[in-house]
Amino acid sequence: MDLFEAVERRYSYRGDFTADPVPREDLEKIVQAGIRAPSALNEQVTSFVIVDDPELLGQIAAITEKSVCNTAQAMIVCVTDPKPVFGELSFATEDCAASVENILLATAALGYATVWLDGVLRRDNRAGRIAQLLGVPEGKQVRILLPLGVAAEPGRQKEKLPFARRAWFNRYGG
Ligand SMILES: Cc1cc2nc3c(=O)[nH]c(=O)nc-3n(C[C@H](O)[C@H](O)[C@H](O)COP(=O)(O)O)c2cc1C
Repeated sequence: MDLFEAVERRYSYRGDFTADPVPREDLEKIVQAGIRAPSALNEQVTSFVIVDDPELLGQIAAITEKSVCNTAQAMIVCVTDPKPVFGELSFATEDCAASVENILLATAALGYATVWLDGVLRRDNRAGRIAQLLGVPEGKQVRILLPLGVAAEPGRQKEKLPFARRAWFNRYGG
């Protein structure tokens, strides 16, 4: 699939997934796209735990309490290292987001669906509980969770504002 088609096809999916598995070959391809993302000073502080063990998937789904996780065939858990990399500055959030967008596009390009789960992890120590379950070392943070699989229901990207309301040449507001 062409990159621009993947950009258009990507959408946040929160429905059920079919029982079709996501082969490891595809999972590796998807996460490799995340690894290819830019990162500040090429420090590559984002890492990924790819979960396809059914028991672990069930345990993570129980922690998130998000129905989209209940039928996910795999999950990509994005882990950041908030250490400063440029003076006192950390770019961990930005680096992670860049990787996640690549992952979302790769997921769409291969015909799978997913959703960026973030806020829910920051409540009730869910990120910490998932980190503990997956053996994430002290000091690193579970930041984003991507449940994925084949969508059981149709879905589409939410409407975006027209170009002219969000972008201009040479001067803000046109
Ligand atoms: C930083 C960020 C955090 C997000 N957190 C969540 C989340 O916690 N739960 C969720 O269901 N969707 C989350 N989303 C997905 C957005 O809700 C979604 O991208 C937005 O509604 C637009 O829909 P679209 O992805 O179909 O274009 C998040 C997206 C971003 C970029």
